[in-house]
Amino acid sequence: MHPDVKEILLNEEQIASRVAELGAQISADYAGEEVIAICALNGAMPFTCDLVRKMECDVIVDSIGASSYGSATVSSGVVKITKEPKQDVAGRHVLIIDDVFDSGLTISLLVDMLKDRGAKSVKSCVFLNKQIERKVTYKPDYIGYDIPDAFVIGYGLDYAEKYRQLPYVGVIKPEAVK
Ligand code: IMP
Ligand code: MG
Repeated sequence: MHPDVKEILLNEEQIASRVAELGAQISADYAGEEVIAICALNGAMPFTCDLVRKMECDVIVDSIGASSYGSATVSSGVVKITKEPKQDVAGRHVLIIDDVFDSGLTISLLVDMLKDRGAKSVKSCVFLNKQIERKVTYKPDYIGYDIPDAFVIGYGLDYAEKYRQLPYVGVIKPEAVK
């Protein structure tokens, strides 16, 4: 275990088994359809790579860079796109993939934005869902695991851009947070 990790919340086996279940569920839901899987960079990279390899429907992998501005306590904000998807989403099914649903602001804004661009449908899949009170009413369509309200790292999640490579999800030690 990495010395900056206090506790492992989800190990590699737990991650792999849940990703396989999600892949099966998503494949069944999009059976006979084509979906554009849009990875929210950078945190959702490992999850997206694992998830799309468990998808049996037609899937086109794309990515988006976004940072949201606004308060978690209001259900509106502005999302700044730092990297545009390559695909034109108009008239097509879109699945946004993210690492963690925290305030929910980023994903809810991305969903609205992609709907405004004319997508036929926009769903979201988050690996982790923090069990917190939210002002945002939007709920992701697919959730890997519910987790307590702790700052977690690994499996794509970072602290100061580090620890994304850890193969598990862990709680960071307070002394590693500067
Ligand atoms: P929100 O749902 O708009 O608040 O933003 C979610 C984003 O915040 C995620 O995609 C992560 O980049 C980041 N984030 C939230 N909680 C954590 C955490 O516990 N560890 C690492 N990043 C986090
Ligand atoms: Mg992120």
